[in-house]
Amino acid sequence: MRASPVYADPRVYDVAMRLLYGPDLALRYRALSRRIPDGVEVAEHCCGTAELYRRHLRRRHLAWRGYDTNATFLRWARARGLPVSRADVLEDPLPEADWVLIQASLYQFAPRCRDLLVRLAASARVALLVAEPIRNLGTHPSRLVRWLAHRGAALGRGPVGFRFDREMLHGLASSFGGDLLDYREGRREDLFLLRGHRGAVT
Ligand SMILES: C[S@@+](CC[C@H](N)C(=O)[O-])C[C@H]1O[C@@H](n2cnc3c(N)ncnc32)[C@H](O)[C@@H]1O
Repeated sequence: MRASPVYADPRVYDVAMRLLYGPDLALRYRALSRRIPDGVEVAEHCCGTAELYRRHLRRRHLAWRGYDTNATFLRWARARGLPVSRADVLEDPLPEADWVLIQASLYQFAPRCRDLLVRLAASARVALLVAEPIRNLGTHPSRLVRWLAHRGAALGRGPVGFRFDREMLHGLASSFGGDLLDYREGRREDLFLLRGHRGAVT
């Protein structure tokens, strides 16, 4: 099965995310950017079109590198001078960084989300930040909307049917001793922070 058309063109992807998340997208980027201090090394996995970096982190005094497996997104980002590399977050050795980040991507890796968090947390010296949707079109009451959402998330290995709800995500975060951040009733996503293997979170 072919990948969804949203993964074939970075501009289509960015428009689709803006339509899907609406104002929550900018809120998420601001919340993540506020949490990461200056002067640190940041590794963002499944970075997609690197929009957080382009819109916020690029102007900051920190060293960011994005990792993804989508060759089209990586080519597009490199052509714009963005520091990205290919890395499969499940299979490749993950580089160490002070802050490690993954946004809106965990659901794709079910049933291996827990293994993935273990890998990501082990690569974080200070903290791992996870942003994940908890209200999704993939669990919409309409069968057609659900089908479109599952098909729209396909990366070439078939439709992606799993999505987190609040209870599942909070359960996963708390089983790792994670702290929920900026939680507000009604928000489409939650952010949580897991401590890294060295040092305190500032
Ligand atoms: C739903 S998108 C999220 C992109 C971005 N984090 C965002 O918030 O817009 C998921 C991203 O994960 C990437 N991806 C999928 N499987 C991957 C893997 N095994 N290793 C690394 N990246 C992967 C895809 O190419 C895609 O860019």
